[in-house]
Amino acid sequence: MAESDTFLASKRKSDETWAELEKNPEHFIMLTGDRPTGRLHMGHYFGTIRERVRLQDAGVTTRIVIADYQVITDRDSTEHIADNVRNMVIDYLACGIDPEKTIIFTHSAIPELNQLMLPFLSLVTEAELLRNPTVKSEQEASGHSLTGLLLTYPVHQACDILFCKGNIVPVGKDQLPHIEQTRQIARRFNERYAPVFPEPVGLLNEAVEIPGLDGRKMSKSYGNAIALSATAEETAKLIKKSQTDSERFITFDKENRPGVSALLTTAALTTGRREEDIAAEIGNDGAGALKRYVTESVNAYLAPIRERRAQLEADMDYIEDVLHEGNKQARLIAQETLDQVREAMGMVY
Ligand code: TRP
Repeated sequence: MAESDTFLASKRKSDETWAELEKNPEHFIMLTGDRPTGRLHMGHYFGTIRERVRLQDAGVTTRIVIADYQVITDRDSTEHIADNVRNMVIDYLACGIDPEKTIIFTHSAIPELNQLMLPFLSLVTEAELLRNPTVKSEQEASGHSLTGLLLTYPVHQACDILFCKGNIVPVGKDQLPHIEQTRQIARRFNERYAPVFPEPVGLLNEAVEIPGLDGRKMSKSYGNAIALSATAEETAKLIKKSQTDSERFITFDKENRPGVSALLTTAALTTGRREEDIAAEIGNDGAGALKRYVTESVNAYLAPIRERRAQLEADMDYIEDVLHEGNKQARLIAQETLDQVREAMGMVY
């Protein structure tokens, strides 16, 4: 199939699944995750966290992997990893992830999940692995030669999704090849041995992307990200030093005025207003006034999350408990699935 046909097929599946989700949320198990490489920022929040909370609250069974083994796919060190993991739990809870409903766990605590890697690797070819566009671009960005882990991480991601029988995975368009790989692994396993796994659907989200403060994708490595955990003062500083342009009159024009437009979109998303209306209101008051407006609206929007964050931070024992309990529950599920896999493969001794 041509690439665009594959995309259209995925889009159709995603649309159908969205419709089904509205009717029967209880039929779905959602698996998502993040690499604990730093603090979550507004890009994560508007891109995925907000939607995870919505689906969790709608009754979808939700699991979140803090993908600690994935940290070393493209970097040489696990520096600060424990701190990053704990802060990630804090960020999730502050945003509304409810540990009574959602299992939060780390790769490293679930040996049974990692053990699925062996049979799964036997179901994919070297050519399929090398074809994955994300693997290629991440390898190029890392400046290192391709490691075995980076090459096979889409298979490891399939283990994350399939160990808990996840049947939906919220994804951006660029992650669709991973989901396709996961579906292929599930199909091949089921055909070769016994039907154990669902074929998960990548749920494309329609959310508007919040740009970074310079108009590029929001990313910590670009220095254009507003972390959920930043203080109001840090947020103000970051917005103040963002690049605008020399034209005083404020207009929304993404192409020609990326800096000004990124600020307008940030204000729009955090106030529920339209970019054009905000631009018209600020008009000749210029970039300084716009930045003050953005700072106020971002800080007001994040205030309840930050307040909850501060409360959670003051009780690290509770955060540890949430993680230990999540790991315990995920491990039970993984043990059960690995038992089914051993049985399907005749490896019961
Ligand atoms: N790759 C994801 C990220 O970079 C994290 C992740 C790990 C994930 N396993 C997953 C996402 C399984 C979805 C499904 O943030």
